[in-house]
Amino acid sequence: MTTDLILPHGGKLINKYVEKNNEDLMTFEVSSDLRNDAENIATGVFSPLEGFMNQDDLVSVLKEGRLRNGIPWTIPIILDVEKKIATQMQDLGDIVLCSGGAKFGIMHVEDIYGYNKDEIAAAVYGTTDVNHPAVNRLFKMKEFLVGGELGGFRMKEKDEIQKFRMYPSQTRSEIKKRGWKTVVGFQTRNVPHVAHEMLQKAALNIYDGLFVNPLIGKKKIGDFTDTLIIDTYESLIMNYFPKNRVLFSTIHTLMRYAGPREAIHHAIMRKNFGCTHFIVGRDHAGVGNYYPPFAAQEIFNEYPDLDIKPVFFPSFYYCKKCMSFANEKTCPHGIESKEELSGTMIRKMVNSGQIPEKHLMRREISDLIIKSEKPFVVD
Ligand code: ADX
Repeated sequence: MTTDLILPHGGKLINKYVEKNNEDLMTFEVSSDLRNDAENIATGVFSPLEGFMNQDDLVSVLKEGRLRNGIPWTIPIILDVEKKIATQMQDLGDIVLCSGGAKFGIMHVEDIYGYNKDEIAAAVYGTTDVNHPAVNRLFKMKEFLVGGELGGFRMKEKDEIQKFRMYPSQTRSEIKKRGWKTVVGFQTRNVPHVAHEMLQKAALNIYDGLFVNPLIGKKKIGDFTDTLIIDTYESLIMNYFPKNRVLFSTIHTLMRYAGPREAIHHAIMRKNFGCTHFIVGRDHAGVGNYYPPFAAQEIFNEYPDLDIKPVFFPSFYYCKKCMSFANEKTCPHGIESKEELSGTMIRKMVNSGQIPEKHLMRREISDLIIKSEKPFVVD
């Protein structure tokens, strides 16, 4: 069966995995987070980006929420360097990127520029408060940015944390093989509770396939660890989903806690993986009280040209009278019959040795949390 898949964002899936000889070039060491994002550029997760952003694209993203050519894009994808390195890079042309000493790709240096961190913080996160985890990270970045196209990439051996990582070319061919015409993407940074599962299953009633795509990468202190997120999702899907309706893979990038702007970014990445639809529930990609609970849904009004369609859900809770998960669209009962389970509540319970009741969290999942030696990010 052949299926015409949704076009990648910007019309073309980027692929930079072509071996090139790079022995004589200057090498530049980057963190594993930056390597992940370089790989996301190189494999088309960030299509249509072809490299780290130049100044004109960054300015346009901050001001318009679009690249300079008008294509929707909301999150800066930038490479920071110290002044000394920036000076060395001037006039170099190509440099070799490496991480942990291993060379993995080439960058053609096009633009080296200073930037205003307050401006980025206000535009992307809606705040300059250093208590916001991503603003805090931004303020620790080096003082210059380097933009330019990437090329000549080498594939990394997959380690344990990457065992479910798939690239857009792979998910697209899997979707095609399965003959799915509609695929709904689900972003998460959490271990699953039953509200998450009910959102996924509500969408699965309507669309051909569900793409469960937990975000693996740097998160804030107190969030669940990557290993636990992967183990719990593997168990949830094995025990509670029909295998032929779900594609499970991890996405490797930073969690940015940018609420509405990040919801657009999350949708674009899932479009590149081949999703036609994308779930956005309550306080998507939120942290603390920085964003109104449904701001991440409202922002989609500004992007009628996104192509991938958002699937909005109200806040789901367990209703004791309905005896099921419900929301204000389906349930008439008052606050006294509502039960909710948030990440903060789970953390408190685990720390005090309690486990959430099984109508709120599957026993298989709470068992894995309880048994985990390191359930939460600590630094
Ligand atoms: S997120 O930072 O990745 O958005 P999380 O993993 O908790 O956090 O949420 C994944 C998706 O489920 C998001 O779209 C979020 O809005 C949605 N979601 C989580 N809990 C609920 C809930 N109780 N009701 C409605 N949507 C929810």
